[in-house]
Amino acid sequence: LARASFFENFAPAERESIAARLNSRRFKDGETIFMRGDPGSTLMIVVEGRVRIGVNTAEGREMLLTIMEPGQIFGEMSLLDGQSRSADATAMGDTLVLTLERFDFTATLRQFPEAALRLCAMLSEKLRRSTDQVEGVTLHPVNVRLARLLLTIAAQASKQSSKPIAGIGNPRLKGNPTQRDLGQLIGASRQKVNFHLGQWQAEGIIARDGNAFAIQNWKALQAIANSDA
Ligand code: CMP
Repeated sequence: LARASFFENFAPAERESIAARLNSRRFKDGETIFMRGDPGSTLMIVVEGRVRIGVNTAEGREMLLTIMEPGQIFGEMSLLDGQSRSADATAMGDTLVLTLERFDFTATLRQFPEAALRLCAMLSEKLRRSTDQVEGVTLHPVNVRLARLLLTIAAQASKQSSKPIAGIGNPRLKGNPTQRDLGQLIGASRQKVNFHLGQWQAEGIIARDGNAFAIQNWKALQAIANSDA
């Protein structure tokens, strides 16, 4: 729990009292955790693996909203507004989640006003990212959107010390975002993502080391992220 940013400011005794009310569940790579429209009764905390949050059509097309990393929570929206699950959640790689029942979640929020504020901050961040996603698709070309996404992923990776740098473009390694995933996050095709990554690699802006990637020329990538052409 100490790794989950939602709980990070809790005193150890408070964390222990919440930990006693948690259950754990394991999911295999690609397994559905819940689907949009399901009734929501639990909050979930990612411990191992990752979780894709997206919306899928009956024809198999997916809009990927975000990828939840260890320490992040999801499934809070339906607990707060009493509506059904707003998106699908699917395990990426073998995934372990902790679950907290609605009653215990709402009791926690009532007992710890700091937690309620923290949750508001998390929801604000989600809304902000959502606005950025819509803004990107509506107003910016793919190279700008992709540069922004890589910078965001890199910033997240460095915040979570134990986390490896996000893998890209290697579908053989279970649980890592592929080029297709990156494309879905920014509303672009895998081919376009592949084109820009290849170009940036040739220009020395990014370097690929097997499955991982590293930003070599931050200034150049930031310049692309802030450009509009
Ligand atoms: P809930 O609606 O219970 O189930 C789906 C979950 O996905 C939701 O709670 C949030 O935790 C998460 N979610 C839904 N929409 C978004 C979004 N646009 N960005 C990030 N996470 C989201």
